[in-house]
Amino acid sequence: MEEEQTRELWRIERLQVFFKTRGNDIMAVNEFSLSIYQGERLCLLGESGCGKSVFGMALLKLLPENAEVLGKAYYKGMETVGMSEKTFARLRGTEIAVIPQGAGSSLDPTMRCGKQVEECLRLHEKENSQVCRQKVLSLLKRLELPRLPGIARDYPFELSGGMKQRILVAAGIVCHPQFLLVDEPTKGLDWGCRDKVITLLKKLVEDEETSVLLITHDFNVAKSLADRVVVMYAGEIVEYGMREDVLERPVHPYSKGLLAALPQNGFQAIEGFSPPLDQIPKGCRFHPRCPHATGRCAQEHPNLTDLGEGREVRCFYAEG
Ligand SMILES: Nc1ncnc2c1ncn2[C@@H]1O[C@H](COP(=O)(O)OP(=O)(O)OP(=O)(O)O)[C@@H](O)[C@H]1O
Ligand SMILES: [Mg+2]
Repeated sequence: MEEEQTRELWRIERLQVFFKTRGNDIMAVNEFSLSIYQGERLCLLGESGCGKSVFGMALLKLLPENAEVLGKAYYKGMETVGMSEKTFARLRGTEIAVIPQGAGSSLDPTMRCGKQVEECLRLHEKENSQVCRQKVLSLLKRLELPRLPGIARDYPFELSGGMKQRILVAAGIVCHPQFLLVDEPTKGLDWGCRDKVITLLKKLVEDEETSVLLITHDFNVAKSLADRVVVMYAGEIVEYGMREDVLERPVHPYSKGLLAALPQNGFQAIEGFSPPLDQIPKGCRFHPRCPHATGRCAQEHPNLTDLGEGREVRCFYAEG
């Protein structure tokens, strides 16, 4: 892992996302700077509405037209924010793949499941349909789908939520991407399916050396999958570092609050709510909810501070 850590796949520099709306313009992502290394599993963790999906979709150039993206992102050294959609589309779907949020509803209801995975493969490989079908079937087998090969001929409505999720995982990975963005892969799944999907994603990285950016609001998903964790609050990074550091010994009061809110730690939820992104408070964005906030926190916006060993935190008073 240490050797791989030195191979940077993405370097993201001060990425910002604005939405033009009829009311106030919204800054959904503020100055995100981050590297993603080859073969690592990076987890983006934060409450609903903090901008996780917007960041992921900005990186993959999949935001709607009312979005403006500033800053730079380099994929294998190629700058992608300013890259044409046509050029980037060649990467997306071959080297870069996405399993979007709400995956259960993003399958085509009118197409057989196996065919949907096959289409992804045929877009990028010039193999004949017989070879493609065989590759798809062996992938579905690896994903432990039951009733093979019959299930490949089923329509999405004939499958359970967990099976549909696995079909989407298959569609995302069939081209052996080097980078995979997975947005909330376990949302709405029951516990058994959740574990299956997590195990599959884990295996995938080990077998294929795929780098995964996993977006989740679920602390336990981050814990079982991530090598490194980025905690996000109200559009910005508040803490990041290795999984054990951030999830077991967090230093930012918000990350500490997330840990304390877990059932196994007594369900002590953080008081208050995340601010809507068009009403960001002055100073530290977390200060109205922070039990340690001082006058300085209400006035000044803290920068990310380097605590060493790849760990950074956005708090005036945090110590590693
Ligand atoms: N198309 C859009 N136009 C205007 N604002 C938007 C648009 N898409 C997202 N936003 C704003 O960005 C915010 C962050 O949205 P995002 O979907 O990234 O949240 P999230 O962290 O992924 O939440 P969840 O865990 O619920 O998926 C939203 O609350 C909304 O204010
Ligand atoms: Mg989301």
